[in-house]
Amino acid sequence: MTIPGLVTRWDIHFKTYFYLMVFIWALVTLILVYFGFKYRRRTADGEGRGGAGNLFLEILWTLIPLLIVLFLGIQTWALFRDFRRVPQDAYEIRVEGYMWGWNMTYPNGQRTRNEMRIPAGRPVRVYLTSQDVLHALYIPAFRIQEEAIPGRTTYLWFQANEPGEYDIFCTEFCGSGHSLMRGKIIAMEPAAFEQWSGKQAQPAEGPTGAPPHEKGKQLVSDSGCLNCHTLTGEKGIGPSFKNLMGKKESLEDGTTILVDDAYVKESILAPKTRVVKGYPPAMPSYQFSDQEIHAITEYFETLK
Ligand code: CUA
Repeated sequence: MTIPGLVTRWDIHFKTYFYLMVFIWALVTLILVYFGFKYRRRTADGEGRGGAGNLFLEILWTLIPLLIVLFLGIQTWALFRDFRRVPQDAYEIRVEGYMWGWNMTYPNGQRTRNEMRIPAGRPVRVYLTSQDVLHALYIPAFRIQEEAIPGRTTYLWFQANEPGEYDIFCTEFCGSGHSLMRGKIIAMEPAAFEQWSGKQAQPAEGPTGAPPHEKGKQLVSDSGCLNCHTLTGEKGIGPSFKNLMGKKESLEDGTTILVDDAYVKESILAPKTRVVKGYPPAMPSYQFSDQEIHAITEYFETLK
């Protein structure tokens, strides 16, 4: 199983195409300029001699490009095949794109948002889908990209040879939050990864003794809420969290509501039910427990 080295092979492949194209472009341009000069019209009524055809040249300029294109085609096919052929022992993660973020689900059921933890030195297979519209998962460090399509599951695979952080981008325009749809891959030493996934599998209770608003703050920053909501009072894709609790908001239908615990809960679990005027009904549902929602409202109370 030839696994690592795909990135290097991809780069060599890209450079082969690139330099070959530059070479052919330069060659054709030089000949064009030279002939333009050499066979220019010399007198006002000058006429050129017609060409008689040349079988040798015809064969030559058919055969050479054919060989080049065949060579590139076979190389491309071989590389593509290896990019699509997932190794047997791959670690599997399910990734779901939504407006605007990524949900990761691990084999033991644990979840993260916008952060994909993986063991370094092991192939990883991603099963990819979308909750709403077309997105595309792009991981430049591994030279891979795949479409996230609602109602369909696609896949890609890669391997991080070294522990470290790698960027994730969405590369399919998916609305006003498209540019915010970033994430990180965190490749960990296998032992550290084992420990992390063991810990995460425990029921998600906050650190014992921590006040609820601390836990709420953690939830809000870990869940990607701040991609769309600010803490400063500025308008984001959604309303700011600053001074939110106790505020009167106008709705699209002209009525007003008071932002209380019940409205926050509804807006987290079923965000499209009552949307504040002037904002798109863009937020996906977040399945937090009552305890977690309580922690979040406690946190909002501190943002005055
Ligand atoms: Cu999701 Cu662009």
